[in-house]
Amino acid sequence: MKYKRGFFNIENVDIKNISKKVGTPSYIYSYKMIKNNISNFKKNFKLISPLICFSVKSNANTKILNIMGKSGLGADVVSGGELIKALKAGINPKKIVFSGIGKTPHELEMAVKKKILLINVESDNEIVEIEKIAKNLKVKIKIGIRLNPDTDAKTLSKISTGKKENKFGINKKLFLKIIKKYKNSKFVNICCVSVHIGSQILSNAPYEKMLKVTKRLIRQSNHKFEYIDLGGGMGIQYDIKDKKFNYRKYCNSIIKIFDCNKTKIIFEPGRSIIGNAGVLISKVIYLKETKNKNFVVMDAAMNDFMRPALYGAKHQIIPYIKGTKHLVKKHEFVGPICETSDKFLISSKFKELKQKEILIILDTGAYGMTLASNYNLRPLPAEVLVNGNKFKIIKNRQRLSDII
Ligand code: LLP
Repeated sequence: MKYKRGFFNIENVDIKNISKKVGTPSYIYSYKMIKNNISNFKKNFKLISPLICFSVKSNANTKILNIMGKSGLGADVVSGGELIKALKAGINPKKIVFSGIGKTPHELEMAVKKKILLINVESDNEIVEIEKIAKNLKVKIKIGIRLNPDTDAKTLSKISTGKKENKFGINKKLFLKIIKKYKNSKFVNICCVSVHIGSQILSNAPYEKMLKVTKRLIRQSNHKFEYIDLGGGMGIQYDIKDKKFNYRKYCNSIIKIFDCNKTKIIFEPGRSIIGNAGVLISKVIYLKETKNKNFVVMDAAMNDFMRPALYGAKHQIIPYIKGTKHLVKKHEFVGPICETSDKFLISSKFKELKQKEILIILDTGAYGMTLASNYNLRPLPAEVLVNGNKFKIIKNRQRLSDII
């Protein structure tokens, strides 16, 4: 993604052509960047050859999931809907893991019938439910136990999941009790321990702590696990000032702690595979001057892209036409929704803008479209995939008639 002769291009497509044909707001993904991210992820963990289950909650577009499947990835799903979508997109059920604290009996039964790799359970109640299904269907079900390692991921509090006060996973004491209780069960085979401590993690320290706690528990349980599912969470650089996550260091820590020849490592990355491979394009509707700041009213809003309003997340916005940045009055980039939190960025340095000019919100490939809603009765944006000098709509813009 870069400027060519002053205009922003994704691979070899000038985004003005996409905007003309598809309109705005639209999510655009680069095929090459997705493939690059996948091959870098594989390269970084080559020494442990893990099973990589793409986290569907980060991007659930069928075409995107299809690319994941064709690249050999499996899927991490958290609902019946995600499970069906992953299967429909061609992902091998033997590479699908099902996590989440509130899977309904219906969803659990569906997962068993679809013969997925394993279900990561998050409470003792859930195991009882799974036993009932196993008895009913006369099968033995492979499960993982999600451990709550009480580790602070030092990320945004709303996306931190591994502390004892969080609703996720099972605490250490109960974990050991469950292993003992179900060791010789006829209905469940505990073959995996899973952990996921949070998202957008840029430092290795929380992972190292998590690995140590997990190793200690595995030793204490005296149980042989076929799989260790380390979840996802590896962060990306939303800002050039952000630290780069050190994959090699993480890989070496895993090798030091676990015997990866005897146990298969599973990862559930989402953001690190798709985050920087997508942008959201939008147009300036109005420019509104006030005494202290100018508002740039865009046609994208918090319903299209929720991260800034929900987490205070910062995403860079760049203009389609490259220009010199001027130190002007503060610019506040906002959407048309009737909430003050419907804003994307405040910038004191931006080039002069005109009505209808295209703006690009960067790094919106993960948790962009999947978090979008119809708030204010706004139709969902379109999704487009660029490959070389071609682009294709991979999801049509929702029609107003669908929501009215
Ligand atoms: N595995 C489990 C069990 C998870 O809960 C998650 C994310 C992942 C894998 C993938 O994590 P990733 O590699 O993408 O960090 N909406 C928030 C992020 C929520 C993450 C929820 N769980 C955001 O926009 O930052």
